[in-house]
Amino acid sequence: MKKLQFPKKEAKTPPKNGLPGSRPGSPERDVRKSLDLSVQSASAPSRGKTLPTPKRKAETVSLASQVSAVTPVSSLPSSAEESQASVFPALRDSSFSITPREEHQPLAALTTNGSTRRLIPPQPGRKRKTCGGTDEMVKVFQNNSPRCSSIYLPPGEDSQDSSDGIPSAPRMTGSLVSDRSHDDIVTRMKNIDCIELGRHRLKPWYFSPYPQELTGLPILYLCEYCLKYLKSLKCLQRHLTKCNLRHPPGNEIYRKGTISFFEIDGRKNKAYSQNLCLLAKCFLDHKTLYYDTDPFLFYVMTEYDSKGFHIVGYFSKEKESTEDYNVACILTLPPYQRRGYGKLLIEFSYELSKVEGKTGTPEKPLSDLGLLSYRSYWTQTILEILMNLKPDNGERPQITINEISEITSVKKEDVISTLQYLNLINYYKGQYILTLSEDIVEGHERAMQKRHLRIDPKCLHFTPKDWSKRGKW
Ligand code: ACO
Ligand code: ZN
Repeated sequence: MKKLQFPKKEAKTPPKNGLPGSRPGSPERDVRKSLDLSVQSASAPSRGKTLPTPKRKAETVSLASQVSAVTPVSSLPSSAEESQASVFPALRDSSFSITPREEHQPLAALTTNGSTRRLIPPQPGRKRKTCGGTDEMVKVFQNNSPRCSSIYLPPGEDSQDSSDGIPSAPRMTGSLVSDRSHDDIVTRMKNIDCIELGRHRLKPWYFSPYPQELTGLPILYLCEYCLKYLKSLKCLQRHLTKCNLRHPPGNEIYRKGTISFFEIDGRKNKAYSQNLCLLAKCFLDHKTLYYDTDPFLFYVMTEYDSKGFHIVGYFSKEKESTEDYNVACILTLPPYQRRGYGKLLIEFSYELSKVEGKTGTPEKPLSDLGLLSYRSYWTQTILEILMNLKPDNGERPQITINEISEITSVKKEDVISTLQYLNLINYYKGQYILTLSEDIVEGHERAMQKRHLRIDPKCLHFTPKDWSKRGKW
């Protein structure tokens, strides 16, 4: 599960007429009773462009086998599989390609009857956004990666979005992607037995570089407000008489009910940020801990009671990201996990991106739990959009991948990989169809009923800064 092997470009089906080849999904599948989303034909007449028709024969990749690779690892409780299965129907073997000039073109046309219908050309005069290359050809296919699908962009396109997560050159900003080349096994062994944080005792999962003299202690004590670590209860009690904080430092930028978010600048609140990273590293295996927290902002989520604002989780975010990362590291503290806080953190990160007017994606690679949570968030977010599409002048409504991405701030590649993961896309009679089966619709409705914790954008008070203008953060 740790070693990823990506398909060699040469190994792909040789292009015909310079166009990428692929095998479309089986058309028979589209005839079931369901909600259909027809994706516009590659050769949509209204666009006045010649677009490639996907070849019928190309490599066949078993989705079913890949799904087992992305579903929870054995260390996770079996309920992971169950909860996923309740949302996602069993995936079938198929592979497909998208030739999305979806940039500006309607991708999906929604119908509520079960049949597959011919593509409806875009409404004349319908407003289209003009970002991105209209002629862009993206070939998407499943590979054997246990993480995301590979996305091949045409030459000249920025390929940094590929999900392999391996940066080709050292970053100028503060990515936390682990460089395992200098790791030795000792530095990865769990070194802290127990952490007391407020009323919780936490059992670390992984190594964290707390000072060595503290690693042999049965319990490491943390001030739950400033996160300072202390070697004994006595020291903590003495600290608490001096520490005035009852909430994280920084600005409270969101409050609804008992949930608040604080924005902390890694440069202005260095000690807090470093202590937060040390704590977080106990539960993050695949990220490097940097002592230079300057390039990051930290968004700490708290729950309020009469004693103060108690940390529940957080995510960090580079002030400037050339890769469109809107989250570097994300963590729900173990006592709060599996109660919807992770998705709340994720939702918050996308709300920030919406205010910034950008799309974003989490830094890769994702942990197994990170992938589960993001998949779940992306799935619910995209299905929410698709199912709320209203008929357009009596016709099936149409939407492009780009539009889904702009509405949600979920990066296009993640939209595509989610549709692909859900196995919704089919190619039929020259058009792309998204078929939402009853299983999917019902599973989604059930999941949404259970999702009580939501971000209310009205409670967010956030003004993004243009960090590029500030010289040094
Ligand atoms: N087993 C099975 N499914 C799980 C588990 C688990 N242990 N944990 C979460 N999930 C699923 C949930 O079922 C839920 O999906 P559903 O609503 O469709 O059922 C989804 O993941 C999100 O659950 P939440 O309760 O909202 O998430 P949680 O508060 O548990 O936080 C997080 C998720 C942040 C990933 C948490 O597990 C964590 O902190 N893990 C350790 C650190 C980590 O791995 N962070 C991500 C690294 S990647 C990155 O930083 C960019
Ligand atoms: Zn303190």
